[in-house]
Amino acid sequence: MLAEIIDGAAVARKIRGDVADQCAMLATRGIVPGLTVVLVGEDPASAVYVRNKEKASVEAGMKSETIRLPASTTQEELLALVDRLNGDRAVHGILVQMPLPKHIDPQTVIRRISPAKDVDGFHPVNVGKVLIGEKDGFAPCTPAGVQVLLAEAGVETAGRHAVIIGRSNIVGKPMASLLIQPGPGGDATVTICHSRTNDLAWHVKRADIVIAAVGRPEMVTGDMVRSGAVVIDVGINRIADPSAKSGTRLVGDVHYESVRQVASRITPVPGGVGPRTIAMLRRNTVRAAEQQV
Ligand code: GUN
Repeated sequence: MLAEIIDGAAVARKIRGDVADQCAMLATRGIVPGLTVVLVGEDPASAVYVRNKEKASVEAGMKSETIRLPASTTQEELLALVDRLNGDRAVHGILVQMPLPKHIDPQTVIRRISPAKDVDGFHPVNVGKVLIGEKDGFAPCTPAGVQVLLAEAGVETAGRHAVIIGRSNIVGKPMASLLIQPGPGGDATVTICHSRTNDLAWHVKRADIVIAAVGRPEMVTGDMVRSGAVVIDVGINRIADPSAKSGTRLVGDVHYESVRQVASRITPVPGGVGPRTIAMLRRNTVRAAEQQV
């Protein structure tokens, strides 16, 4: 069997249309959803993510601002900026790009962002709302994007066994919160695997849906995956490739060529989960604007 490719870009285009329609409706009331992204330091991967987020927001008819701060910025300075953005009525969504420089505690910064403007869904209030199934909270964009991607690809989650590899606050844990909720896109039986899991391959082999979000290049191989499973690859890793002009290339956490031979559906890297994540950020920002006005 050769897996069917789940085209994240096509799904993202549909969401982009929906968001643009909502922006047009808000514009008739004089409201332009505003997203402010804060980037501290020079991490090259973060700089690429932030550029993509910025471009996509402007295309959707939103106002997007990026504040770039030097790596030497103190925690107090960053908290003061968050306070100012919390009080700015033209800013409906605030995203502080992670990772932050080592001298800044990410949880302190996340807790300072108003939960109403936390379009990343990282504030404990939103984490809690997602876990208890309250719909007015914000779910983190990557797992929310995976959930929509599965739905749009016609993958049933109810009663299926989803194995998530990775227990991060950004993907693994919120992914589990979303998949166990009752209702559409939920009702799954969920296993979370992590670096201390014994016999990872044994767990992965029992999955109807595998979600890899661990940040280790090509670690999920074809022999680990059950025939017919759906495989979602959240990883984006840059590896050396002497045959490429740049000397590097992007790969996921899934060994695409071997897993493709056994899975029924698979997301490519790049072009799978990534475009969905940004579409969900726009969706959260529009909802934040609607809730704040
Ligand atoms: N770094 C990697 N992914 C994310 C994300 O979704 N949000 C933020 N703020 N930082 C990230």
